[in-house]
Amino acid sequence: MEFFKILLYTIACILFGIYLVLRKRYSYWAERGILHDKPELIFGNMKELGRTKSAFKIVQDLYMKYKGKANYIGLYSYIQRALIVLDLELVKNVLIKDYEYFSTRGIYYNEKDDPISAHLFNLDYEKWRIMRIKLTPTFTSGKMKFMFPTVVDVATQLLDVMRDAHELDTSKTGSEFANIIARYAVDVIGSVVFGLSCNSLKDPGAEFRAMGEKGFRCRHIWLVHSFINSYPDLARKLGMKFYFDDVSEFFLRIVRETVTYREKTGTQRKDFLNLLIDLKNSDTADPMTMEQITAQTFVFFTAGFETSSCTLSFCLYELALNQMVQNKLREEIMEVLTRYEGKFTYEAMNEMKYMEKVLNETSRKHSIVPCSLRKAVKDYVIPNTNHVIEKGMNVVIPLDAIHHDPEYFPNPEVFDPERFSSTEVKKRHPMAFLPFGDGPRICIGIRFSKMTIMIGLVMILQNYRILPTIKTEVPIQYDIHKYMKSSRNGIYLKTEKIS
Ligand code: HEM
Repeated sequence: MEFFKILLYTIACILFGIYLVLRKRYSYWAERGILHDKPELIFGNMKELGRTKSAFKIVQDLYMKYKGKANYIGLYSYIQRALIVLDLELVKNVLIKDYEYFSTRGIYYNEKDDPISAHLFNLDYEKWRIMRIKLTPTFTSGKMKFMFPTVVDVATQLLDVMRDAHELDTSKTGSEFANIIARYAVDVIGSVVFGLSCNSLKDPGAEFRAMGEKGFRCRHIWLVHSFINSYPDLARKLGMKFYFDDVSEFFLRIVRETVTYREKTGTQRKDFLNLLIDLKNSDTADPMTMEQITAQTFVFFTAGFETSSCTLSFCLYELALNQMVQNKLREEIMEVLTRYEGKFTYEAMNEMKYMEKVLNETSRKHSIVPCSLRKAVKDYVIPNTNHVIEKGMNVVIPLDAIHHDPEYFPNPEVFDPERFSSTEVKKRHPMAFLPFGDGPRICIGIRFSKMTIMIGLVMILQNYRILPTIKTEVPIQYDIHKYMKSSRNGIYLKTEKIS
């Protein structure tokens, strides 16, 4: 009996201790006079996450609530603290001008125990700089031109799948396009990054896609996830991993087998892996290891697959709802291809300027990556204030909220590619449109993703008219459980063959 009393007393003391620590933690913004929403114990400001709201909706609501009242606000993401930047000049300072204070994202990686986590997106300091310098030459426009035919080959298979979907579709509801396009994006990345024929288009259950999707998920519950991000050095000492073992093993095996095969047989292919093998063999002073190659190919897959696929499927959705835009885009495609004597080349693609506007407007309205993240690596005094962003503080740039701010984009829910005419662009602050982030840590895959999406669009629109059906959601519902913007219930559209 006495033992239970002591046990109960100890538990009560521990819980009270935790309560005091959390109370202190949750007074951080108030003590500094920085506007914020009142936090709730354990949840901070994230109570609605996954219940009624997505992460980006929570951030957007805070942005709209405090815009005009403050240039930055405080956030409690469970037990973590973050500063949300509302002012575009401060956005510019964080991403570009004062980059040296915000050079990392503060996302956990563990090179030793979880080698695929040590990829470009997560790396920091010198390790990131060296890797970025090595990888940048693999994304030049010359390299894109080199890979162009490989992507066109995959897009040809996409047309086969669309033809089947078209012929089989006898209902009034149409086909689910988010899935068809995701299979295309998986095959493009599988083929161009890993040199594999993934067959996801022909076999929707392909292991590759399953592993790619699992590669987004942390192996831990949110509390442990929050802990490893808050105390990365301790987590590394404890050998904690981010990714599931089967995901790591799958990618390590695929890359090792393919690299070994290519090196043995001297096979050359027009893809990223070829360029990475060249890097491995040419840089004798600091050659890339098999684990490093795997980590980079892995992030090209995880960072490139869902982003490109969702952008393309949201674009088709908007084209179905905006037939005039679709017609204008098709006219441009036909006009450019006629000038190129019907040959679809890299140069022809780059002449499709209206398509560029349509893609920009899609990326604005459905900002797939809703926030850009940074962590302060040293104390930063916010210009013209006495507020300090302390070393270790997370900083959130709310891309999606900025893209929906009526001050920069009037009637933000209207899809209008003319927002990206050169006159309109000049009128806006350069930080008002950042679908790929900005500064030294801007997305490395911009050219590649645009190429994947544009090739898909040219192939589809040349052959089909895209139409909405009774099952097409207007407005689209986003999945509130995902960090990135994707459709919750699928994108149902139908096709009409163009003769
Ligand atoms: C529509 C498609 C895409 C979108 C919207 C997108 C968006 C972004 C954003 C917002 C960032 C963060 C930038 C920042 O923090 O300032 C990022 C980083 C990154 N993206 Fe993309 N991305 C796309 C496609 C791709 C593709 C196809 C690849 C690779 C093949 C890729 C690889 C990366 C990598 C490696 C980083 C980290 C860069 C670094 O820290 O040095 N992304 N992307």
